[in-house]
Amino acid sequence: MNKHIVLLPGDGIGKEVTKAARLVLEAVAERNGHNFTFEEQLIGGAAIDEAGTPLPEKTVAAARKADAVLLGAVGGPKWDHLPGAERPEKGLLGIRKQLGLFANLRPVKGFKQLLHASPLKQEVVENSDLLIVRELTGGLYFGRPQERTEDGSGVVDTLQYTRKEIERIVEKGFESASKRRNHLTSVDKANVLESSRMWREVVEEKKEKYPDVEVDHMLVDAAAMKLVTNPSSFDVIVTENMFGDILSDEASVLTGSLGLLPSASLREDGTGLFEPVHGSAPDIAGEDKANPLAMILSTAMMLKHSFGMEKEADHIEKAVQEVLDAGYHTADLSIMNGIEHGCNDMTRKVIEQI
Ligand code: NAI
Ligand code: MG
Repeated sequence: MNKHIVLLPGDGIGKEVTKAARLVLEAVAERNGHNFTFEEQLIGGAAIDEAGTPLPEKTVAAARKADAVLLGAVGGPKWDHLPGAERPEKGLLGIRKQLGLFANLRPVKGFKQLLHASPLKQEVVENSDLLIVRELTGGLYFGRPQERTEDGSGVVDTLQYTRKEIERIVEKGFESASKRRNHLTSVDKANVLESSRMWREVVEEKKEKYPDVEVDHMLVDAAAMKLVTNPSSFDVIVTENMFGDILSDEASVLTGSLGLLPSASLREDGTGLFEPVHGSAPDIAGEDKANPLAMILSTAMMLKHSFGMEKEADHIEKAVQEVLDAGYHTADLSIMNGIEHGCNDMTRKVIEQI
């Protein structure tokens, strides 16, 4: 298959892990007879420095035409003095909105080598393997009005959705659950919020289409508690933008490492943007210390979700597991007590397994 991939390395270790992703994809293409072409574009601080804006028009145009987009990370102390609207993070928010990336998928799985690194007890985190499906372009973060009252005595944020927006994300939740363990937990605050009551109605309607999927509704406060007391009871969680933001960060501590968490943000046609959950790690940038695995696992999500290449995605996931099983790790996972490698050597290990 021919596929065109836009790379947005961004800032800090974003550049290093994007290079790793490309090498892994080239190995996958070679092994499976695919032809992947790559195009680098600017985003974030790098784009501010070179083009004067965190999200150049050229980047958006290239991303729109691509079969998939891979993003490293944006931001860093160099740009911290800039006002909100001009910061590197605006590039990321902007591209999500402009590409219509409404569904954010974050899988969280406990790697057995790292169970003891979790701040939670080993018996609580073992067997946890869940997916959070977060609505990404609506809800509380985008509803209008979002402003101070004129006299400054008050403030308003708005949690706003159309029924269509709820339907497409709930659908994505069901679809994901039906490909996993057939269990969907819809998380809301229906005892207080009208938007959550519509959300529940939509879930009940969509349920008819997925008779094999078992569904529960859970209030977000209860879900937050259960994520740290009984994470293995979840399969797929589907939820509103801000609830999903908070719950996915909470869930990320289950694995004990940011360097292992991938994510996908999808459009309605299944194309999308894939990126590690971590940021640009300015404290280790340029030192060949970054853990490339979160980014490499993001490429596996890309192959699966946007290219329909399940087998190739499996190869990558297995290769990562085998490298960890063999005891190799980057400095952030020194708790594994194995053999420490830099970003480049770790990438090479994964490629050898592929
Ligand atoms: P961060 O995720 O960049 O780093 C947090 C800590 O984890 C640091 O000690 C870092 O060295 C370590 N770390 C993160 N990823 C790692 C990896 N792959 N391998 C090894 N160690 C890793 O978050 P932080 O420090 O809060 O933010 C730094 C910058 O990144 C800020 O400018 C922030 O705005 C930006 N950021 C960007 C994100 C994105 O582009 N999606 C997400 C989060 C933060
Ligand atoms: Mg967050």
